Amino acid sequence: VSESRSLSIIVLGATGDLAKKKTFPALFNLYHQGFLNPDEVHIFGYARTKLSDQELRDKIRRYLVDEKNASEKAETLSKFLQLIKYVSGPYDSEDGFKRLDKAISEHEISKKSSQGSSRRLFYLALPPSVYPPVCKMIKECCTNKSDVGGWTRIVVEKPFGKDLESAEQLSSQIGGLFDETQIYRIDHYLGKELVQNMLVLRFANRFFLPLWNRDNIANVQIVFREDFGTEGRGGYFDEYGIIRDIIQNHLLQVLCLVAMEKPISLKPEHIRDEKVKVLQSVIPIKDKEVVLGQYEGYRDDPTVPNDSNTPTFATTILRIDNERWEGVPFILKAGKAMGSKKADIRIQFKDVPGDIFKCQKQGRNEFVIRLQPSEAMYMKLTVKQPGLEMQTVQSELDLSYKQRYQDVSIPEAYERLILDTIKGDQQHFVRRDELKAAWEIFTPLLHRIEKGEVKSIPYKPGSRGPTEADQLLEKAGYLQTHGY
Ligand code: BG6
Repeated sequence: VSESRSLSIIVLGATGDLAKKKTFPALFNLYHQGFLNPDEVHIFGYARTKLSDQELRDKIRRYLVDEKNASEKAETLSKFLQLIKYVSGPYDSEDGFKRLDKAISEHEISKKSSQGSSRRLFYLALPPSVYPPVCKMIKECCTNKSDVGGWTRIVVEKPFGKDLESAEQLSSQIGGLFDETQIYRIDHYLGKELVQNMLVLRFANRFFLPLWNRDNIANVQIVFREDFGTEGRGGYFDEYGIIRDIIQNHLLQVLCLVAMEKPISLKPEHIRDEKVKVLQSVIPIKDKEVVLGQYEGYRDDPTVPNDSNTPTFATTILRIDNERWEGVPFILKAGKAMGSKKADIRIQFKDVPGDIFKCQKQGRNEFVIRLQPSEAMYMKLTVKQPGLEMQTVQSELDLSYKQRYQDVSIPEAYERLILDTIKGDQQHFVRRDELKAAWEIFTPLLHRIEKGEVKSIPYKPGSRGPTEADQLLEKAGYLQTHGY
């Protein structure tokens, strides 16, 4: 990061939930760890509510530190808060954005930015309906056209549209204003440690190279569960549902990294090219390979219609029609109000041919990558039960990050991704054609759900979801192992 330039980070939607819970805390942690240079950086909040700088600082303060580390971080916290300025205004008026531009420019001048170059990072912590007007205002009022060597980057959050058509429309609107290299579509799962580890694991280990295909792998499961419901977000959630909220983006991105071919290099474009190919090879989802659920009590939320069919749980099987994966089911499963909070990838291997130990009923080889909580990777394998008898037992080779990397604290996904945006690295962001291909996979199913052609089955909060989902897994060839 160059020393003589200014960096302005502008959080639009500064008083909203995402900004308070994710964006500002990530910025503070980066600052605390020295990744944001206090001589360069300034942070601006923009939203409709009228507030003073101090009122915004007071609003977000409690999200930045917890009681445990408050005193240790007190000094950096107060310095960080002093960097934050607030501008209020509507999302579609020149007046507000001109005032914002003025505030940013004053900061840039105060930093005596050499050669007039300025770096402006606009983080849209906003609903997608306002992306187009906001991007237009940024372009018209807040970009310095004569600036050489500076940049303007736009970070947008999901949901990027509701289906293929609306997503494409949104992409064209934003794409008409900013170049693809300026648009950073965040999927925060791509910032998680073990998701980022996926390419290393697959392509830097001889173990896996020859095994990672249809000859050896029986099925792949990518699972997300949360042990709480849609509390306080019923209105948003009912419009989107679990497929748009989790599967079409987070789990599908993970699937890409599990299934893609080796990129020719680590350049962001090479990696994203391979991800697109995977998405384009997915064949249309069949209704008989889908189980939807809705937890009992979901409709008690006053913002949710009484007859809502919106799924809060879904299991869908995706099939990739290429040489490596034909015939291997990729099971994507996500649910709210489940018995536990967990996200993992489970690669289940085929049975050993000619099993002389007759041990396969005990379970297959399985490689599990636990994304959260407690990051870990473990391999389930069959060993001899220690002792005089020749008995076999399923055991584990276990790499638990807490034990192995005791002194390393694992960064929050948002911290990493914001830092990538400042560096201009788009590897962990979703490209426009990726987004399109992702919507192509799910749009027909989503439309059938909306027409009521695929129904959500009720399930008890705290359960594993509808039993039909386990039956579907079994039909797809997943062999249930003990305790899972
Ligand atoms: C968000 C979804 O994208 O991801 C939420 O909108 C969900 O519904 C969240 O709770 C889960 O993120 P994480 O990082 O806690 O697994």
